[in-house]
Amino acid sequence: MRSVAGAGVVVTGGGSGIGAALSRRFAAEGARVVVNDLDPGAAEAVAASCGGPQPAVAVPADAAREEGVAALISAARAELGEIDLFCANAGVARAGGADAAEADWAASWQVNVMAHVRAARLLLGPWLDRGSGHLICTVSAAGLLTMPGSAPYSVTKHAALAFAEWLAVSYAHRGLTVQAICPLGVRTPMLDGSGPRAEALLGDAAIAPEAVADAVIEAVADGRFLILPHPEVAGMYAGRAADTGRWLEGMSRVQQRLEQLG
Ligand SMILES: NC(=O)c1ccc[n+]([C@@H]2O[C@H](COP(=O)([O-])OP(=O)(O)OC[C@H]3O[C@@H](n4cnc5c(N)ncnc54)[C@H](O)[C@@H]3O)[C@@H](O)[C@H]2O)c1
Repeated sequence: MRSVAGAGVVVTGGGSGIGAALSRRFAAEGARVVVNDLDPGAAEAVAASCGGPQPAVAVPADAAREEGVAALISAARAELGEIDLFCANAGVARAGGADAAEADWAASWQVNVMAHVRAARLLLGPWLDRGSGHLICTVSAAGLLTMPGSAPYSVTKHAALAFAEWLAVSYAHRGLTVQAICPLGVRTPMLDGSGPRAEALLGDAAIAPEAVADAVIEAVADGRFLILPHPEVAGMYAGRAADTGRWLEGMSRVQQRLEQLG
């Protein structure tokens, strides 16, 4: 798929932030959009705000739990026919280290990783049968680098990237396109609720969710795996790979600066 015009698209976590911007932009480009969110009112409001030639439809569901993913995909298929593009965008950012509560670790695994696995499990059969399908996972630069202050987020975003890479390796030759969006800060309720250290780390370079949607539309046209709305992340990722020890030392200095904020 080089353009979303006419495509049947599902966006999870579409009731806010990046998912809302993606939903509106896809609709404006002529896609038939299903807006999913855990929050039914948010999904309805974003669906109603989508312009474009085709009205968007809200399908509230828990896009992480197995029954919720099944309900979402079956409602989306009833609405769209086969799904052409699935955006596994819903995510949660829970703070803490090894001491983070079991519930926060579990929620991070469920929403940031298993949601993608469960969606892929249901999408792959029909996609491989027809020889085409497109999955875009909203990961994070934390999946390429790390996120000081949040071990559950860093670890599960690395896992989400690993799963997206695995899918790309396994199925590119069978017609699947898999892409991973890896931004630094994006001005959404998630960033606004992440506390003063996240704001100090990411606030200055934070971009609008609409800028992420711009980067996605550009990347859909060329199919590149990594979608980097902050282009500087490519250099950071290369630096981490080329000299991991040096990169860790630099990140330790960042951590120490953040600790001075209290
Ligand atoms: N904001 C940032 O700085 C930033 C940076 C990099 C990556 N991301 C990633 O972008 C994605 C979207 O984040 P955002 O900043 O737009 O956050 P947000 O909090 O504004 O929106 C997330 C939406 O997902 C929904 N959601 C959460 N769990 C869900 C579930 N189980 N099923 C369905 N919907 C669910 C929420 O109700 C919310 O409407 C996340 O995966 C996040 O990790 C965000």
